[in-house]
Amino acid sequence: MQKLQTSQPQTAAKKPSYDRADWQRGYESQPNEFDYWIDNIEGKIPAGLQGTFFRNGSGLLDVNGQPIHHPFDGDGMICAIAISEGRAHFRNRFVRTEGYIAEQKAGKILYRGFGTQKPGGPLANIFDVKVKNAANTNIIYWGEKLLALWEAGQPYRLDPCTLDTLGLDTLDGILQPGEPFAAHPRIEKGKNGAGDRLVNFSVKQGLSSTITIYELDESGKLLQRHAHTIPGFALLHDMVITPNYCIFFQNPLSFNPLPFLLGFRSAADCLKFSPNKPTQAILIPRNGTDEVKILETKPCFVFHHCNAWEEAGEVFVDSICYESFPAVEAEGGFREVDFDSLPVSELWRFKLNLQDKTVQHQVVETRCCEFPTLHPNNVGQPYRYLYMGVADAPRGNAPLQAILKFDFVTGEKQIWSAAPHGFAGEPVFVLRPDAVAEDDGWLLSLMYDAANHRSTLMILDARDITKGPVARLHLKQHIPHGFHGCFTPNVLLPIGS
Ligand code: FE2
Repeated sequence: MQKLQTSQPQTAAKKPSYDRADWQRGYESQPNEFDYWIDNIEGKIPAGLQGTFFRNGSGLLDVNGQPIHHPFDGDGMICAIAISEGRAHFRNRFVRTEGYIAEQKAGKILYRGFGTQKPGGPLANIFDVKVKNAANTNIIYWGEKLLALWEAGQPYRLDPCTLDTLGLDTLDGILQPGEPFAAHPRIEKGKNGAGDRLVNFSVKQGLSSTITIYELDESGKLLQRHAHTIPGFALLHDMVITPNYCIFFQNPLSFNPLPFLLGFRSAADCLKFSPNKPTQAILIPRNGTDEVKILETKPCFVFHHCNAWEEAGEVFVDSICYESFPAVEAEGGFREVDFDSLPVSELWRFKLNLQDKTVQHQVVETRCCEFPTLHPNNVGQPYRYLYMGVADAPRGNAPLQAILKFDFVTGEKQIWSAAPHGFAGEPVFVLRPDAVAEDDGWLLSLMYDAANHRSTLMILDARDITKGPVARLHLKQHIPHGFHGCFTPNVLLPIGS
């Protein structure tokens, strides 16, 4: 096992590092779409950095003034920043989903979401189980297709240069109409001449949960598809892979469908966390055999895993863990959430012994964290460096305002913070051309700058993030706090840009 130093408890911050109104303003809708060359750049875009950064997130946090109740329910809006020869071009477009088109035409909320009800009380929601595919969670560029992902629905395909919506995509017939495709695929780098693989999953809920695994080659052709049923309800947002397994954490969360069916509550409000039940680590063999392994560990809730690998007969999983489900219980919606009442997300390391079916866990970092990322060549392999969005303060729950680099070998932590007025987005690691060292690259993160009510693409040198961004690409407008993105070395621009 790699040498690991754990975080020590530290004195609580006396005063918040952020102004709540600043954070809330970062959730104002951005209904407009833009196309321009970024002319406000501090610092210099590194010479070797070339390609396109894509990011997805909720662009609308209201429909014609009717607020949505949960940040997961906003319409997906894609940002694309194409970087070439020291210049950068910005473009954003809403995904023209069925729901976006219908609601914009009607000028009101027509769909239920994960945590949002249609206005009008239970009578307006009763027996309406159709939840909007917001296409807002992730964006991938695979097999020359740009796909906006939302875990309970089919991907929407967009033109990678113009961001025009091309429609729902079955991945050339891999998916049946309506079959979902999760928002957290993992890309396994090919070794010894083999091509890269995209590994993803979908979940079908009933009295039990059926997990389907998909493995696609670089051209998007299906290499593997197999389904496995596990007992009970499973909210599975993410998974990790090793050379032999797809690994899921089935958190002790149950779903009571009755208040949802009768229109009294949103789906999110029908979830219940059981603190006395274990979390189950589910290991599905990637070769498609039925030898699924289920191991029990401490109760916790996980949205995002960092990485997993196999070592000396054991499986290691690094995850961002909450002690319970972080439910939005504020009457006025997520903007009014009480951060102090929510569990803090921490970095935990799990060691799974498949022989004796035991799991050990270790809390590695107690600073509030989310959106982990790493060098793409180390997905499913042992690794040294992890990058995450973190809170500015070392203790307590707070919005993400900083980027942390964790060195698992030395235990060293590097932090760069955008506090008090900056709010961090997911960091995306981009390799420097001809890089040798694992941290030889850049971190790209779209941050909300409340002081100027605009967003900025921060480019950090991953070798030393404490120096601060080597370049800050200031946009002309703000982009609401978002979710996930990717980077491709292809410079994708419309003809004539
Ligand atoms: Fe996610």
